[in-house]
Amino acid sequence: MSGLGAVFKPHSVAVIGASKSPGKIGHAILKNIIESGYNGPVYPINPKEDEILGLRCYPSMRAVPGEVSLAVISVPPQAVLSVAEECGQVGVNCLVVITAGFKETGKEGLDLELKLKEIVKKYGMRMIGPNCLGIIDTHTPLNASFAKRSPLKGRIAFISQSGALGVAILDWSIQRGLGMSKFVSLGNKTDISETDLIEEIASDDETSVILFYLEDISDGRRFVEVARASSSKKPILIFKAGTTQAGAQAASSHTGALAGSDLAYDVAFKQAGVLRAKTIEELFDWASAFASQPIPSGKNVLVVTNSGGPGIITTDYVENVGLNMARFQKETVENLRKSLPPTANLYNPIDVIGDALPERYEIALKYGLEDPAVCSAIVLLTPTAVIDPDQTASVVIEAAKAHRDIPIVTSFMGGEAVEQARKTLSSAGIPTYPFPEPAVSALAGLTRYGQRRLKPSTISSPVYEDVDREAVKEIFREVKEDGRLVLLGPEAARVARSYNIPVAPSLLAKRPDEAAYMAEVLGFPVVLKIASPKIMHKTDVGGVKVNCKTPREVRDGFVEIMDNVHRLMPDATLYGVEVQKMMKKGVELIIGMTKDMQFGPLIAFGLGGIYVNLLKDVSFRLAYALDESEIEEMISETKAHMLLKGYRGEKPCDIKSIVDTIGRISALVLDFPEITDVDVNPVMAYPDGVAALDIKITIS
Ligand code: COA
Repeated sequence: MSGLGAVFKPHSVAVIGASKSPGKIGHAILKNIIESGYNGPVYPINPKEDEILGLRCYPSMRAVPGEVSLAVISVPPQAVLSVAEECGQVGVNCLVVITAGFKETGKEGLDLELKLKEIVKKYGMRMIGPNCLGIIDTHTPLNASFAKRSPLKGRIAFISQSGALGVAILDWSIQRGLGMSKFVSLGNKTDISETDLIEEIASDDETSVILFYLEDISDGRRFVEVARASSSKKPILIFKAGTTQAGAQAASSHTGALAGSDLAYDVAFKQAGVLRAKTIEELFDWASAFASQPIPSGKNVLVVTNSGGPGIITTDYVENVGLNMARFQKETVENLRKSLPPTANLYNPIDVIGDALPERYEIALKYGLEDPAVCSAIVLLTPTAVIDPDQTASVVIEAAKAHRDIPIVTSFMGGEAVEQARKTLSSAGIPTYPFPEPAVSALAGLTRYGQRRLKPSTISSPVYEDVDREAVKEIFREVKEDGRLVLLGPEAARVARSYNIPVAPSLLAKRPDEAAYMAEVLGFPVVLKIASPKIMHKTDVGGVKVNCKTPREVRDGFVEIMDNVHRLMPDATLYGVEVQKMMKKGVELIIGMTKDMQFGPLIAFGLGGIYVNLLKDVSFRLAYALDESEIEEMISETKAHMLLKGYRGEKPCDIKSIVDTIGRISALVLDFPEITDVDVNPVMAYPDGVAALDIKITIS
């Protein structure tokens, strides 16, 4: 058996460190394996015992008579290496290392972990852990963990980076009636990572949805590629802890300041087609819907209720999460009018009012679900004295059977009065929530996934044949030779031109006379800008003069800029003054790039100019997962898009050129990984093209 198959469907299992003592983890694991009903051979390993829990015990792996595909290791840390080595020698496929005391404890632990990794690699084994709780597959069935209880059999795969949280959720899932297909405690992820598991479980017929609790992601780029390919087959839902801005980059550029470390996760999840839950509760609210319901064909929701208040709350929330209340066709309203009392509300939400018997729900669901506009439904119930929640639950179940392509979720609000009905719904596979908000949120999750599935599973970035990589290499060589990492404006402009990015013409002047001559060559009016790698915000140090219309104004401007900068930044090395043709006003945009440690280059687009950080109208994408449609989507997420489309009678801008410029900047940063930051601000957008006015490039 190869790959990760042996983790979940092993032919045989050994427990190394199996113990007779009920208080020990090695005992609990063996007991769980036996009680889970695993039907392959199980080999307890313990040199001191002949038999444990009725099974013959072996002194070592070498003594085991048959082949072992999975070995669960629960011996103290100092014994793990020799045990793992022995496993490798006898041909074990996979290890689950429960033992703690590795990198989580410091340097010594890290050394031990690296040695363990080496052994695993040397023998071509795969490993979950160390420092984990184990794994469960309810379909095999196999519970090779020390969780207190086995989860119910179901279709949710749950993978947790925290073992402790994992057990709590497993226990809670039983109470909530959520069935799991697999559970994996990732531990230190020394070998098998979240990405490996996505790859494996994406094609697992026993799993409908993959859930994660994660604290970090091991290999950002591979994660995005694998998750993107897998999420087109199977929904991936993640709750990622650690969302504070504490890790936000030091702001050496506008783009860097706008992007926090958590933002990169948001962007990566989005481009990978992963849905990110805000809370653990939301993760499981979504999971219960994904595990049992079809994916809706669109955003239009039907709401059926027996009370006004919850109907209003639901309607509000539907709009808030970006769904729509379905607008019925005439025929639906007419049918409802004929069958419901005159006091009922016939338009969405259908209010069958407080004295509704199950028949009214039946009518509302029949005509509502038959309406061609309806893509999903929420059934609300509050326990009035006359209502029969149990019978109403049966009506909902029947309606769901008749419309298997429409997801239906419910919120039967209340306590004891609706408890049985909720259980009936749950066991029939209809998700039920205590209040309307999580019900709507679940439908929103399903709907977003439906939209995600329309996107291609892989992205092919545009290829630009007309770029001059050699020229860029040469510029970077010159900059490095000069002992700098920050390019001067004219150098950055040359880089941009080499990638066919439209740039406002500019030249570098060392003296006032030279500046005046250059201005004549370029054509008046011009803008003067200080050229110094140290100065990121030129305006702040009096380093910019706009609209210089004569040679004299240029000469004076040159002197004034040099004086200002000498005074305010006496230590800065000044290379002269950049003379740039003054471009006409357009929509000011920013296009930038900042590097995220985990996910690599992030491209930013938004409203530019000096208020960038104040307005924060910026959207981000990973450079390596960017094609034209993704760039268009990125642009459409900003308010800048409204201006570009032609705001209040203005002429629309050339969005195609902006898409092209973003694509070329992405290509540049991917071709040259030594580029650490790019800020093109402003980029002027016009009805006929764009022009980059100020370009900052930093290399490493
Ligand atoms: N081969 C086989 N059995 C061995 C062995 C070896 N090389 N070395 C020791 N054993 C046996 C021991 O004799 C003992 O059996 P016994 O009860 O019959 O004496 C058994 O393995 C366990 O060893 P012991 O020394 O009693 O350790 P322990 O059970 O107290 O602790 C761990 C072992 C792995 C549970 C412990 O080191 C540990 O890491 N605990 C934390 C686990 C954890 O929290 N993981 C993360 C969860 S999220």
